[in-house]
This record gives sequence, C-alpha cells and structure tokens, in this order.
Amino acid sequence: MTEILKGLLIGCGFFARNQLHAWTETEGAAIVAVCDRDAQRARRHADEFAIPAWHDTAEVLSSGAFDFVDICTTMETHEELVALAVRHRVPVIVQKPFAPDIETCRRIVTHAATAGVPVMVHENFRFQKIFRRIREILDSGEIGELTFGRLSWRNAIDVYSNQPYLLKTRRFMIMDVGIHMLDLARFLFGNAGGVSCFTQSVKPGLAGEDAATILLRHENQATSIIDVSYASHRFPNPFPQTLGEIEGRQGTIQILEDEVLVVHSRGEQRRERIEADDRGWTAAPWTQIQDSVPRTQQHFIDALRSGSDFETSAEDSLKTYALAEAAYRSAETGRVIDARTLWDTSHAA
Ligand SMILES: NC(=O)c1ccc[n+]([C@@H]2O[C@H](COP(=O)([O-])OP(=O)(O)OC[C@H]3O[C@@H](n4cnc5c(N)ncnc54)[C@H](O)[C@@H]3O)[C@@H](O)[C@H]2O)c1
Repeated sequence: MTEILKGLLIGCGFFARNQLHAWTETEGAAIVAVCDRDAQRARRHADEFAIPAWHDTAEVLSSGAFDFVDICTTMETHEELVALAVRHRVPVIVQKPFAPDIETCRRIVTHAATAGVPVMVHENFRFQKIFRRIREILDSGEIGELTFGRLSWRNAIDVYSNQPYLLKTRRFMIMDVGIHMLDLARFLFGNAGGVSCFTQSVKPGLAGEDAATILLRHENQATSIIDVSYASHRFPNPFPQTLGEIEGRQGTIQILEDEVLVVHSRGEQRRERIEADDRGWTAAPWTQIQDSVPRTQQHFIDALRSGSDFETSAEDSLKTYALAEAAYRSAETGRVIDARTLWDTSHAA
C-alpha cells in the first residue's frame, strides 16, 4: 500500500458532502477521484473539494489507481458496487443500510470473505463521542453487569426534503434509523437473539413505517427497548440525539438532551457533558452526526493499514442487519423472532 491511501468516493448525493469533508481530516488517506452516474454532480463535487478527477461510471475501479473505495449510494446499488470493488480487489467502506434484504447482505459477506477483500459498513452512530464515553464507563465496571437499556430517537424533522426516496421506501424507519440504534444496542449490550417489534405508519402517504418499537433479549440476558419515530412532535426538536438509559446491577447511565450523561453509582450522581466537536464544516442540528463521520473513516483507514478487524465489518454488520430483519418479521407475524438464525452465512444462496 502507498504512503497515503488513495480513495474513490462513489455517490455524490446528500450525505456524501459530510464524507468528503471528513476525508480531508482523515490521516493517512485522501480521496483522489469522485464518481456519480450523474456527471454534473461528480464534476461539481470534484471542483468544490479540489479532487483531481471525476467519473460517471464505477468501472473506473478497474484502473488499479485506488487503495479503497467509499460507497455512498443508497442500498439497492450496494451489492453491484461492492462486487465490482471485490473483483478488482479494492477494500470497501459502504454506507448503511447494507442492502435491501438479508439474503443480499449474506451474498455480499460471503463473496467478499471468499475473495479476502476487506469490507466495512459505515456505521457512524457508535463513533459519536457520547457513545465512546459511555463505552468507557461500561468498560470501567462502574455500573456493573448490564440488565436493561432503552435507546430512543423521536422527532419530527422533515427528512423527506433531503432524502425524498424515503417517502417511497417500503422498509423505512427501521432501515434508516433503527439500524443505527440496533448497532448501538449491540455495541453497548452485546449480541441479541430474541426480537419482538411493532411498527406504525403515522404520516399519511408513506410506503413504509415511520415509527417502530423493538424489544431485544441480549445474550447476557439484558433486555433493551429501541423506539424510533419521525412522527413525534417535540419542541425544541431533539434531532439528532439518541436519548435513553442503561441500567446495570450497580448503577445507571441516563442519556439526556444536550449531550448530557447522568451517571448514578455508589449512591451518588454526576453529570458529564460530552459535546461533539465543532469542525468548521459542521452545522447545527447535524453536528453530532457529522462529527462522528471522520472518526468512522479514521477507524476504517487505521484498521486497513494495520490489518486489524473493523468494528463494523461486513460480517459483524450482518448480526446488526439480522436484528432489523427479525424486527420486520416480528412485526409481520406477531411472533418473537430469534435473529441468530439469520446470521449464518451457510444459509447464503
Ligand atoms: N450514516 C448516516 O448518518 C447517514 C445519513 C444520511 C444518509 N445515509 C445513507 O447514505 C446513503 C446515501 O444517501 P443519500 O441521501 O446521500 O443518497 P442520494 O440519493 O442523495 O445520493 C446517492 C448518489 O449516488 C448516485 N449513484 C447511485 N447509484 C450509482 C452508481 N451505480 N454509480 C455511481 N453513482 C451512483 C446517485 O446519482 C446520487 O447522486 C444511504 O444509504 C443513506 O441511508 C447515512
């Protein structure tokens, strides 16, 4: 690998701007070309971010010019684009949701693993500063063995202006935001098996659900509740904060508004404010989300350089995706679904 890893970013849409800003801050890597099937978009992003080259086809991956590819397109295109990268042996970071269904995720995982090409899913919520701090507190043992948690994302931000495709997405809320919460639940509590879920479609005219309530049973016997909604009227709007609580045998952590943690342990409480970094290109209300992107990308590059595992490798992300898939199956059938039956790559088509 060269000194500075050279990357291609595919998909110059709404979220790519955050990734392009973040790549300018990522040590040991640089985006040397952008690609979008809309040539004007590709050219505009290349100009704005002073990127030397732009392309309107991902076939440019065959050039041998890239050490990695950052795929920032929506999920229907991921299988084809990851397969192209794998064919040319280019390591991948690909946006969530991984793919439209679990069978496609399994095919991607199996295909990349067989070829030995590293693939990471861009799962940035666990890289928010506040969740790294919570992980530290949990690892210190201060609140003891975990027993219960609740992760809550409820707001009424107009997501549809920036991401109009969400109006027509049949699997909407769990795939768009629920998947982040499910990854957080695994990050904090460990793997989960039993999944029970109800979904709701509150805003008229949506193809999919805009609210979901999910109950998880973790392998360590802790239970967690995930509730997500884009139809909750709150003033001021808490977007994009994940709120909730984590209970252990010796204490509790509350995750409150304004990036405040209240830690209850040893009969006392203390407050910690874990503010996201303001990076110049970040802007409210998105700051907390934007700030997590450089840390996600730095993790990808550091792991790629050292040969260590990605926290959210394709294989690991299959376990998160299985929880989302199980949530949909539970909502459809009214049954508790064991997500562990969905991880096994030997089921791949
Ligand atoms: N992690 C987060 O916090 C976060 C936030 C928002 C969006 N996202 C995710 O980011 C992804 C992209 O979302 P978006 O809102 O930016 O989408 P978008 O539709 O605005 O942009 C996608 C771009 O990809 C291009 N494209 C699609 N297929 C292509 C192909 N085969 N080759 C080249 N270009 C292609 C399109 O022309 C478009 O410009 C989604 O999966 C979304 O869920 C993540």
